[in-house]
Amino acid sequence: MGSFSTFVFLFFGLVLNGAVFCNGGKTSSYVRKVEKSVDMPLDSDTFKVPHGYNAPQQVHITQGDHVGKGVIVSWVTPNEPGSNKVIYWRENSKHKKKARGKVYTYTYYNYTSAYIHHCTIKHLEFNTKYYYKVGFGYTVRKFWFVTPPAVGPDVPYTFGLIGDLGQTFDSNVTLTHYELNPQKGQTLLYLGDLSYADNYPNHDNVRWDTWGRFIERSAAYQPWIWTAGNHEIDFAPEIGETKPFKPFTHRYHVPYRASNSTAPFWYSIKRASAYIIVLSSYSAYGKYTPQYRWLQEELPKVNRTETPWLIVLAHSPWYNSYNYHYMEGETMRVMYESWFVQYKVDVVFAGHVHAYERSERVSNIAYNITNGLSTPVKDQSAPVYITVGDGGNIEGLANNMTEPQPAYSVYREASFGHAMFSIKNRTHAYYSWHRNHDGYAVEADSMWFFNRFWYPADEYLSAH
Ligand SMILES: [Fe+2]
Repeated sequence: MGSFSTFVFLFFGLVLNGAVFCNGGKTSSYVRKVEKSVDMPLDSDTFKVPHGYNAPQQVHITQGDHVGKGVIVSWVTPNEPGSNKVIYWRENSKHKKKARGKVYTYTYYNYTSAYIHHCTIKHLEFNTKYYYKVGFGYTVRKFWFVTPPAVGPDVPYTFGLIGDLGQTFDSNVTLTHYELNPQKGQTLLYLGDLSYADNYPNHDNVRWDTWGRFIERSAAYQPWIWTAGNHEIDFAPEIGETKPFKPFTHRYHVPYRASNSTAPFWYSIKRASAYIIVLSSYSAYGKYTPQYRWLQEELPKVNRTETPWLIVLAHSPWYNSYNYHYMEGETMRVMYESWFVQYKVDVVFAGHVHAYERSERVSNIAYNITNGLSTPVKDQSAPVYITVGDGGNIEGLANNMTEPQPAYSVYREASFGHAMFSIKNRTHAYYSWHRNHDGYAVEADSMWFFNRFWYPADEYLSAH
């Protein structure tokens, strides 16, 4: 291209970008097949029961302490409790160690669970590959994981993000795209709504089991960090099931006590250079409630010199311009948004709305009943809000958007996909969103994040 045509190209490129920006953002015109998502049948390969008597299935791991030296190993044995032992060892080491867990069962209406094992392994070395085995006595299966590097301000680390996955053919495509993303996610931040078993008659908990077998191929090898969504509540008084979160809390343990939380629905972990706060959209969050008091004490503890990146996960988004679940996150936003600005949260990830959306850095905290100031304004101390509720579950895409696109909304698109948040150092992180209809390496949306504590410049004014 000659210099003049380069100039023309750049000029019009900038004008077009400017026009898009002034209109408040981009609504993607990407056209996809809009068809119903169908659950994979019970006899799918994806749900295959491993061979062997009482073979462990639904194996998954999550962080088991506050800093990443612990891992919770969970698995299900179908026939009998069997051994609660985990044998684990460092790669290239002959020194095998042993940990013992506990076994749980629960009933849900006419369903009785198999034997659910949870075992916390502690005092692991950082940045080390470990092998582990479960199922002693009968069929033993072997897996591995890699512990994160020691917590520190400039430790690179890559998180994947999936929400509202379910167990459809589309869900399987989403998980495959995450697994094959060349950025190689090291830990998955799961944004709530797991199995969608509650879409079946009597919340058929067999669909909790199939979901556990579906995700094992990833979750047995890297930690999935759990956020509770509305499909985890399983509150069904019409069939006598009145204890909220019963299947979820039996099947998916989290290290909530390590962050002085009193319930497994809100907690925090440190991992590499990130401080991750998980909140519950479906537990009380008003003033004086346990979650409120915990978050109030938690935020001042975050030391950005140790963990520069402050990430919050919650299922229900606070900024959502789709006509699905519109304003459902509003009451929690009213309670906590001023804290997020005060403590300079870098990014808030949510699910719930089955689509994708990324916001400007905005806040809406000036309103005081009489002043009329109830519109989001640009705020460099505020987080970016990202909705990644597009895992592919049976309920299908949210493709009906509010019009016009609000000024705070930078990009929105109704496609299935997943996202990646790749921390480079204390100042920069690279974020990307990947739609299922593209190749594994394609980024449909991306953004360089500048850390709010170390480099609070306006990302949207910089070349990107
Ligand atoms: Fe949801």
